[in-house]
Amino acid sequence: EKVILAYSGGVDTSVCIPYLKAEWGVKEVITLAADLGQGEDLNPIKEKALTAGASTSLVEDGVERFVREFAFPAIQANALYENRYPLSTALARPLIAQMLVEAAAKHGADAVAHGCTGKGNDQVRFDVSIMALNPDLKILAPAREWGMSREDAIAYGERFGIEAPVKKSSPYSIDQNLLGRSIEAGALEDPMVEPPEEVYSMTCSIEETPDKAEYIDIGFEKGIPVSVNGIKYEPVALIETLNEQIGHHGFGRIDMIENRVVGIKSREIYEAPALLALILAHRDLESLTLTADVTQYKRGIEDTYSQLIYRGLWYSPLKQALEGFIQQTQERVTGTVRLKLFKGNAMIVGRQSENSLYASDLATYGSEDEFDHKAAEGFIYIWGLPTKVWSKFTQS
Ligand code: ARG
Ligand code: SIN
Repeated sequence: EKVILAYSGGVDTSVCIPYLKAEWGVKEVITLAADLGQGEDLNPIKEKALTAGASTSLVEDGVERFVREFAFPAIQANALYENRYPLSTALARPLIAQMLVEAAAKHGADAVAHGCTGKGNDQVRFDVSIMALNPDLKILAPAREWGMSREDAIAYGERFGIEAPVKKSSPYSIDQNLLGRSIEAGALEDPMVEPPEEVYSMTCSIEETPDKAEYIDIGFEKGIPVSVNGIKYEPVALIETLNEQIGHHGFGRIDMIENRVVGIKSREIYEAPALLALILAHRDLESLTLTADVTQYKRGIEDTYSQLIYRGLWYSPLKQALEGFIQQTQERVTGTVRLKLFKGNAMIVGRQSENSLYASDLATYGSEDEFDHKAAEGFIYIWGLPTKVWSKFTQS
């Protein structure tokens, strides 16, 4: 049996290597570390996997795909789980699953594996995405079954030459990629405890942000962000630039209690400066360029779409159908949104578009007013009629 293992370099995924071989009789473990812009050198990780017994250690760059094929559609969908979480971790899972499935085909493996626990969302996202992409592949999740505590896992790993983490490792569980960071566990498990500053790394604390506001113009073409302050950027560079600039002003932190797929509530800290600001700006540009009914209908689609992504259904017929609706709406969403960054805020202070539906001669209260005020009377008569009738029959 040959297995492709999703590999992060951490203790759990490292222990998976000898465990799969010794306990589950797997002949060959090939590790795959996906670079999704987590800002970490993956070469040492490559060595680590080989030391732990991998036959081949793959490192693959997926960051460009991550932004173009996952982040951009999510921005067009204004995707926020439970109205707050921009899905920075959730979006990475279907891509990693895809990379695993591709590697399995290329290397002739009959199974893929990951190191997720049985309590989280990530296992659901990996497993369901893999099933969708190749229903014949076997999925192995040793950490879901081995019943080892972290200490047990470290001790097990030492028997196979996997070094215990050198420094007292962070009490937090952190997942990071270009779009953001997700931090949980440790002191954060008490929902009343304020997150210590040390959990953050993409955003400045409010106390340290500049005392002067900064303006930033974000340009969109058909719902896709393409420029910052009039300068065109490639997708990855655009996110990098915005993370830097917006994080510097302390915007992009979220502290929430969220409902996991497996039914438990968990306390989650996120930072996603660029992604959050882009969703805010994009939604604003839609308010200028889409009709009222399309905008309202899209809100419902967006919520369903966000839940699908959160719950591991990126590759599903419903997600694909909703995508069709969303893409159709984006044809007109071209223009520029101006943000003002200051002390943890990203305020929208202006927007313009060649496809604007804002008609000044209708909106104005000045002398150029073209709106027929008298027409309102007949409209209100009919609009209010059911209410008036109801009142007559019930108030007497
Ligand atoms: N709760 C978040 C989500 O479901 C973050 C998960 C973080 N994953 C991790 N392995 N620490 O998307
Ligand atoms: C895990 O338990 O594997 C990480 C947390 C999550 O998937 O939500």
